Amino acid sequence: MRLQSFLTDTPALLVVSLALGVAAQDRTTEQGEAQITDGNQECTPYFYAPSGNAIHNFPPIWTPATILSNDTEAMQKWQNISSSVPTNIQPKGTNQGNFTGVNYDIANDPDCWWSAHQCTTPKLAGLAPDVSNVPEPKTMGYGFDDGPNCSHNAFYDFLQQQNQKATMFFIGSNVMDWPLEAQRALTDGHEICVHTWSHRYMTSFQSQDAFAELWYTMKAIKLVTGVTPTCWRPPFGDVDDRIRAIANGLGLQTIIWKYDSNDWRNGQGGITPQDVDNNYMQFINNATSGTFDGAGGIMLTHELNNYTMSEAIKFYPQLQSAFQHLVPVGVALNKTQPYVETNYSLPTFQECKLAGLVLQTIADKCASRRYQRHDEQDGRLEQLGQ
Ligand SMILES: *[C@@H]1O[C@H](CO)[C@@H](O)[C@H](O)[C@H]1NC(C)=O
Ligand SMILES: *[C@@H]1O[C@H](CO)[C@@H](O)[C@H](O)[C@H]1NC(C)=O
Ligand SMILES: *[C@@H]1O[C@H](CO)[C@@H](O)[C@H](O)[C@H]1NC(C)=O
Ligand SMILES: *[C@@H]1O[C@H](CO)[C@@H](O)[C@H](O)[C@H]1NC(C)=O
Ligand SMILES: *[C@@H]1O[C@H](CO)[C@@H](O)[C@H](O)[C@H]1NC(C)=O
Ligand SMILES: *[C@@H]1O[C@H](CO)[C@@H](O)[C@H](O)[C@H]1NC(C)=O
Ligand SMILES: *[C@@H]1O[C@H](CO)[C@@H](O)[C@H](O)[C@H]1NC(C)=O
Ligand SMILES: *[C@@H]1O[C@H](CO)[C@@H](O)[C@H](O)[C@H]1NC(C)=O
Ligand SMILES: [Zn+2]
Repeated sequence: MRLQSFLTDTPALLVVSLALGVAAQDRTTEQGEAQITDGNQECTPYFYAPSGNAIHNFPPIWTPATILSNDTEAMQKWQNISSSVPTNIQPKGTNQGNFTGVNYDIANDPDCWWSAHQCTTPKLAGLAPDVSNVPEPKTMGYGFDDGPNCSHNAFYDFLQQQNQKATMFFIGSNVMDWPLEAQRALTDGHEICVHTWSHRYMTSFQSQDAFAELWYTMKAIKLVTGVTPTCWRPPFGDVDDRIRAIANGLGLQTIIWKYDSNDWRNGQGGITPQDVDNNYMQFINNATSGTFDGAGGIMLTHELNNYTMSEAIKFYPQLQSAFQHLVPVGVALNKTQPYVETNYSLPTFQECKLAGLVLQTIADKCASRRYQRHDEQDGRLEQLGQ
């Protein structure tokens, strides 16, 4: 009797699960994953074969990286660039950012250590200055750190509705955990940069391990999205000339910031939601009062969690009216080739400004809806200033 009941019940159970959409949810493609609207469901792990099967060729997720002993490609690359990495700059503190007892001449800052005095002009010859603002006036280099967040669909949907592109600084471990979310960034036209493998203080690492933090993040992004980034942002801004030289050897431009929303710190060390709102408003008010009329600004903001993404959405309209141009950092730098692979391109800043007169495909890659606004009277692009 029990067997009989089992046999007759089974089809009914199947029908129920299909009706609930459980079996229908496609978590094997970027398009399928992008359609999930429930944050908890998005954050339920899934298996994606291309990265899942390659996991043993990477350091353990969220663990400080080292070069795997059988990774001859990484070893060769490290050999190749190590001769241009200074050996007279010592690692500093712990990878959790405890710099107590570090013996360093902070006053003279010989290593151009950002954590000391926000130094962005290297003292070591041959290194370009960090990008801490953007040269274009009235422009914000718009970007988010710490993604891909597993529950970012609501935020990415919002950016898509605004036709707004940004620079996404991705953590290698998050890319391996959430590969389809990483793919969405490229599909949506955002610019992808590196934000290290395990998100520790980079100046604490031995040089070869700092190399591994960058190398495996580049490899993870390449594996799941098909592109190799040419930019990175140090977690906590913690960079010095030794780390810059390693990044430079890997073809990575160092991107930092001048304003910090402190969204990532909400609830820690006495930082309140009111403080974060004030930081956003100060940046917005500075923009409105002309601070960025000569050169544009970069503020540190995050894809870290629901709160930081909600803040980004909340302040988007005000940022848009305070700045004339909200564009990915690479666009503000006229960096038309953001990746090693040459078949992807970003529009130039000029193309973005004129996008309303040019191809829709370029407009789609650009930022603000305002670029596409035409004069009601004669159909010409509105003059939105320089
Ligand atoms: C490298 O070694 C790991 C074990 O440490 C192994 O799982 C992996 O398959 C090896 N990779 C290659 C490319 O041989
Ligand atoms: C090492 O550098 C040389 C010249 O800079 C280059 O030709 C070679 O391809 C590099 N090898 C690797 C593994 O990057
Ligand atoms: C930081 O390091 C110092 C010296 O090594 C140690 O005494 C102190 O307990 C550490 N602080 C924290 C918060 O771990
Ligand atoms: C931004 O505005 C605040 C006051 O709201 C001021 O203290 C700060 O110096 C300004 N920053 C710049 C770079 O203008
Ligand atoms: C993403 O955001 C959610 C919602 O705030 C949070 O619970 C989760 O820890 C975050 N996950 C990642 C991988 O960042
Ligand atoms: C934050 O979480 C709420 C509740 O789950 C959700 O409705 C909202 O879309 C989320 N916002 C973002 C930006 O992820
Ligand atoms: C970007 O290109 C435009 C026109 O080609 C030029 O006017 C502008 O100065 C360039 N900006 C930067 C930051 O190179
Ligand atoms: C770029 O080229 C690679 C192969 O080198 C290919 O896999 C990828 O689909 C191409 N992407 C675009 C946007 O053409
Ligand atoms: Zn970060």
